Amino acid sequence: MNITVIGSGTMGNGIAHVFAQNNYKVNVVDVKADALEKAKATISKNLDRQVAKGSISEEIKASTLANLTFVDNLSIGAADADLVIEAATENVNVKLDIFRSLDSICKPSCILASNTSSIPITKIGSVTNRPDKVIGMHFMNPVPVMKLVEIIKGFKTSAEVADTIVALSKKIGKVPAVANDMPGFISNRILMPMINEAIETLFQGIGGVEEIDTVMKLGMAHPMGPLQLADFIGLDVCLAICNVLHEGFGNPKYAPCPLLVNMVTSGSLGVKSGSGFYDYSGGGKELVVASQFK
Ligand code: CAA
Repeated sequence: MNITVIGSGTMGNGIAHVFAQNNYKVNVVDVKADALEKAKATISKNLDRQVAKGSISEEIKASTLANLTFVDNLSIGAADADLVIEAATENVNVKLDIFRSLDSICKPSCILASNTSSIPITKIGSVTNRPDKVIGMHFMNPVPVMKLVEIIKGFKTSAEVADTIVALSKKIGKVPAVANDMPGFISNRILMPMINEAIETLFQGIGGVEEIDTVMKLGMAHPMGPLQLADFIGLDVCLAICNVLHEGFGNPKYAPCPLLVNMVTSGSLGVKSGSGFYDYSGGGKELVVASQFK
């Protein structure tokens, strides 16, 4: 089975890494050649980390890298694919354009999956002539570590395609959970209101950044507190997902906290911008609360 991954950012390179490590030939496609170079370096660094921990051998690292091809042209990169996984930027128009193109480039039998965290699969399927073969395959960050793949069935996704993707997810060592196509699916229907409520709790002065994260880390055994996790995911992504829930259900309980809106407007996006609830200018090795919240 030939796999093509569209987008070589954090999610795209993680998805490509996992398939290549499990002996699949993977084309990684990105329109930006420098992004492809960066993705190659990131995958190599993450493989080194696995070798250093003894979880894989040098041979597996070499075969993983040999299974990867980096391509800056969609028509070339997706022509022979049996499965395309789109992990481009979380923007509905960008994704719809990509799926329109994929529908004309790919073989009729090719399954088109999206790693979207909240854009409706039914909407993505509707711009193709194969909505029965369009499905959500939502990986979690960091992809090589996190076991879950949330599989989202669009309104017209066939049961056969869903079964194929469930079986494939197990083959690459992941645990699939199937969800129907409603705003936020399962993962973000539950995760984003929790993160938004943590921000609201900070906004109302009920606790500081460290107190809120400590309660959830030590009291509820979460590996990261909700504010650190929001920084890790990206505050712009969190806001976009809150908006999808708010607009999709028309229920005010999903309205994004004004503090989240302000932070995104000001460019405080979390780890990727160097600052969010915490400050990452020192490399992020130590958690330092951002100056606005001290
Ligand atoms: N590639 C390969 N291995 C990696 C890695 C990567 N990118 N990142 C971490 N690892 C490995 C480490 O090598 C280490 O391996 P061992 O267990 O073999 O020692 C292990 O993962 C743990 O890493 P660290 O020791 O560096 O750090 P940690 O113990 O603090 O864990 C973490 C880091 C795994 C990120 C942990 O903090 C965690 O689980 N955080 C929560 C992550 C989470 O909730 N993700 C979902 C976000 S939501 C999402 O993605 C989707 C959405 O729609 C918004």
